[in-house]
Order: sequence, then structure tokens, then C-alpha cells
Amino acid sequence: MEIPNGEQSRELLQAQAHIWNQIFNFINSMSLKCAIQLGIPDVIHNHGRPMTLFELVDALPIHHTKAQFIYRLMRILIHSGFFITQKISQNDEEGYLLTPATRLLLKDEPFSVTPFLLAMLDPILTNPWHHVSDWFQNDDPTPFHTTHGRTIWEYAGHEPKLNHFFNDAMSSDARLVASVVVRDCKGVFEGFNSLVDVGGGTGTVTKAIVDEFPHLKCIVLDLPHVVADLEGTENLSYVGGDMFKAIPPTDVVLLKWILHDWSDEESLRILKKCKEAIPSKDKGGKVIIIDMIVQNQKGDDESIETQLFFDMLMMILYPGRERNEKEWAKLFFDAGFSDYKITPVLGLRSVIEVYP
Ligand SMILES: C[S@@+](CC[C@H](N)C(=O)[O-])C[C@H]1O[C@@H](n2cnc3c(N)ncnc32)[C@H](O)[C@@H]1O
Repeated sequence: MEIPNGEQSRELLQAQAHIWNQIFNFINSMSLKCAIQLGIPDVIHNHGRPMTLFELVDALPIHHTKAQFIYRLMRILIHSGFFITQKISQNDEEGYLLTPATRLLLKDEPFSVTPFLLAMLDPILTNPWHHVSDWFQNDDPTPFHTTHGRTIWEYAGHEPKLNHFFNDAMSSDARLVASVVVRDCKGVFEGFNSLVDVGGGTGTVTKAIVDEFPHLKCIVLDLPHVVADLEGTENLSYVGGDMFKAIPPTDVVLLKWILHDWSDEESLRILKKCKEAIPSKDKGGKVIIIDMIVQNQKGDDESIETQLFFDMLMMILYPGRERNEKEWAKLFFDAGFSDYKITPVLGLRSVIEVYP
């Protein structure tokens, strides 16, 4: 074998370092999961001031032989932006503090992302990543199907654990989205008498809409196993059904995080069913979509990577995809809608109003 010269070996070593970094990308998410499971953010938060390593170790529910390892877990989580350290005494002693991202993972934080984190990193949802190349070589609809032998919705219908953690994850996201939407996009929901939240999960978004617009009659339509046992109120009812078969007649349909779960062909079928359910344009019908528009804004590297992560996730768990504006527009026009309006108020996602 030829010995590489100086320039070549520098390149080789750089390439090796890049590969190592990519191989171990999962260590960031798994370290964060561990910290959440041990309750580290809550313990530091409840401490009320910078917490020393000694105090942290003492407060955690860990075996005494593991105390020596907490420092290393904290070190990588400082690197990934979840904790900072602050000097707390003359003799250079330091204490841990939370960052804004960790605060969003606290147990009692109303918009906590923890249920979403624990769901997405549960083995039921991460195992399919080990079968992506098998899936490329078979005719299964998704790697989830290759791994578990059925769709994610069929699995959730038979496995209460998945059903619950998935619904909790959606609900935690819905709380944050609903709070922004009812505050910053009020006009989107004004002037209507009825709304159907198609695939609305356990109804978190709809509840927030009903609180803000008490005259609105709302229905949450979702699969029977999702809405079973949920009790409605005067203005909110739950209907177990299948959006591919029938959507109750309504002024407005809401589709939050629905169409990205489905292929173009399936999304078209859903959109056509929505169009059948709402009045014509002159009578004020519309569909409100909350989803990502890829490359909608000039994003920083992390935002772009996150949108690409979501697109891959949609391919692995569902037969879905994230779409750019041109792809969305094609879907709308193919389904017989005449116009649409995008309001990018939700970070990586947007509110899209679609008119018949
Ligand atoms: C990604 S979740 C979004 C939930 C909710 N809209 C939210 O964003 O919080 C997709 C939802 O679609 C529901 N769903 C899947 N297939 C459906 C069908 N054929 N008919 C009605 N709902 C369905 C799932 O049960 C799930 O609640």
C-alpha cells in the first residue's frame, strides 16, 4: 500500500473525523433522552441557583457507583446547548444552569417538548431506522411496516403504549402551536360557524380554538382508538372515523400535521374529501393546513437540517413527505382548489389557508 503524502493524509484524517462525527450523531439525542429520564433539567431547575456537580449527583436517583459518570453526561449536554456552567465561588467552583432549550423540556412547562422527545426516541419508532436499506429492496410501504409488519396507525390501534405516547407527543406539540395560532392568526378562524379538525388527535388544538371562539361548533375526527373514551363539551364533539371515507360537513377543515404523513396520491384523496365537506368559495369555505414548507424561508444550517430530518422521518414512519411551495400548490390545484395563502408564523411550519 502506498503511504500517503502530507496533504493526502491530512485529507484522509479529516474525512475520517467527518465520518466519526456522523456515525455518532445519535449520541446527542440519546444523551438528552437519558438526562430527561433521570429528571436532570427538573432537578437543576428546582434547585433555584447554579447547581454543583456534587449537589446534582446527590439529588439524582442513580446508583452510587454511577456518580462518577454524571460529569461526562453533563459535559456533552453542555456542548449540545442544553446546560451552561456558571462560576459560583472564588475557588473556581462551577454550577450547572439550564438554557432556553432545556426549559422547554421541564415537566411542568405547559409547552414541554418532553412527550415528543420520549415518543420519537422510543424503540418502536427508532427501530425502523435499522431497516431502511431492507425497505429499499422490498415493496413495503414504509420501513416502519418492514419492522413491525403493519402501518403505524394499525400498530397504535392494537398497542395502547404506542397509542398513548404518540397522542401525548402530538398533544404537547399542539399546545404550543395552538397558543401561537389563536394569538397571531385570529383572523384565520373568524367568520365561521363550524370547524372539523381532521386527524385532530385528542383535540388539543380544537380545545384552544373553542376557548377563543366559543360560538364555533367543532368536531375532532380521528381514528376510533384515538377518540374512544374522550368526552366532548357543548361545542366540541369527538367522532371516530376515517378521513379517506367521510368528513362531516363544515365551514372549515383543519389539517394539522396530517398531509405530511401521506403520499401525494393519498393527500389528494384527503384534500378532495375536505373539499366535499366545505361550502364553495363564495360561501366562505376553506381548509387550514398547518405543516412545513421546505425552503420557505432562508434558514440557517440547523433549520435546513431539521426540515431534512423531518422529511426522512415522514419516509420512515409513514408514506409521507415534506413539501416545498411548488409541490403544495400542485396538490391544491390538482384537488380542485383555486387559491392559497401562506402565513409563516410557526417557526419551521406555516399556516396555509386553501380556498375552494
Ligand atoms: C401526526 S398526527 C397529528 C395529530 C394532530 N392533528 C396534531 O397535530 O396534534 C396524525 C393524526 O392522524 C390520525 N389519522 C391517521 N389516519 C387517519 C384516518 N384514516 N382518519 C382519521 N384520522 C387519521 C392519527 O390517528 C393521528 O392522530
